Amino acid sequence: MITLRAASTDDIPLFEAWRKESVVAASDPNDDWDWPQTLAAEGLENLIAELDGRPIGFIQIAQIADLVCDASRSWVSPQPGFMAIDIWIGEESDRSQGHGKAMMQQAIARCFADPAIHTVLIDPPPTKTLASRFSNRMGFRFVEKRRYGDDDRAVYQLPRRDWETARTETSASIAAWAEATFGPASDLTVLTQRARQELDELEEALLAGHSAEAIGEAADVVILLHRVTALLGADLADAVTAKMTINRNRRWRLSGDGVGQHEES
Ligand SMILES: CC(C)(COP(=O)(O)OP(=O)(O)OC[C@H]1O[C@@H](n2cnc3c(N)ncnc32)[C@H](O)[C@@H]1OP(=O)(O)O)[C@@H](O)C(=O)NCCC(=O)NCCS
Repeated sequence: MITLRAASTDDIPLFEAWRKESVVAASDPNDDWDWPQTLAAEGLENLIAELDGRPIGFIQIAQIADLVCDASRSWVSPQPGFMAIDIWIGEESDRSQGHGKAMMQQAIARCFADPAIHTVLIDPPPTKTLASRFSNRMGFRFVEKRRYGDDDRAVYQLPRRDWETARTETSASIAAWAEATFGPASDLTVLTQRARQELDELEEALLAGHSAEAIGEAADVVILLHRVTALLGADLADAVTAKMTINRNRRWRLSGDGVGQHEES
């Protein structure tokens, strides 16, 4: 599972090793990262992405940014409402496996957790290769090409309304949030017990005729089941799709009140 944690000066040797990797350097060829200064800078959130506790990549969120940049490629003009994300995965063997997507989803969710933020920006090199495809797949829209000093970049933006329309939580994103908020689950049955409590609360809301409350309780049950499924290494939506394929091909013995049991084949 991918989790994000704050980067520290202890991570500097790791950053320097990753920056030597050709694809990472190519994404930012003329930028001379001064790590102690970067880590201490105001308005920047520097995060290490870990895969099951192993550092695999870096995310930087510039908390104040807008579409105006200076020649040194710094996002300037401190207008509220914009955030910019920089992302890279250190080793080739960790790329193209969905980790970048999971990292970016969490970074975007962090940005939009602040209700004042209306737009997230990224600026990969303007090639038709991985970075631009990645930007499009993450829902960003191309805005314009820019030249910062010796660097050509393509600016992409994701407005909040697009993110809200397209947003889909996954078992992994829910589990990452839950672990960051509540800590690791000591045992998966702790989660099923909690889900059972939520299910009881759902039933109480239904018996009381409180529809809106019942919908919220149903979501709480599903959120816990997403976390269990992620910790078992799968995604609940995928598992539901697979199970529905089976269900649609089963023969059912009806109990007469709207549910039933499948017949053994
Ligand atoms: C860009 C980067 C962060 C993407 O992370 P990743 O883990 O490799 O990408 P993912 O496996 O999560 O794939 C996300 C999407 O990118 C695209 N993608 C992934 N690998 C690709 C490849 N080798 N070629 C083309 N597109 C690819 C896919 O469209 C994928 O979406 P889909 O699976 O829904 O079709 C990572 O490759 C990286 O660090 N690259 C070097 C630094 C860089 O270019 N940074 C700028 C990023 S804006």
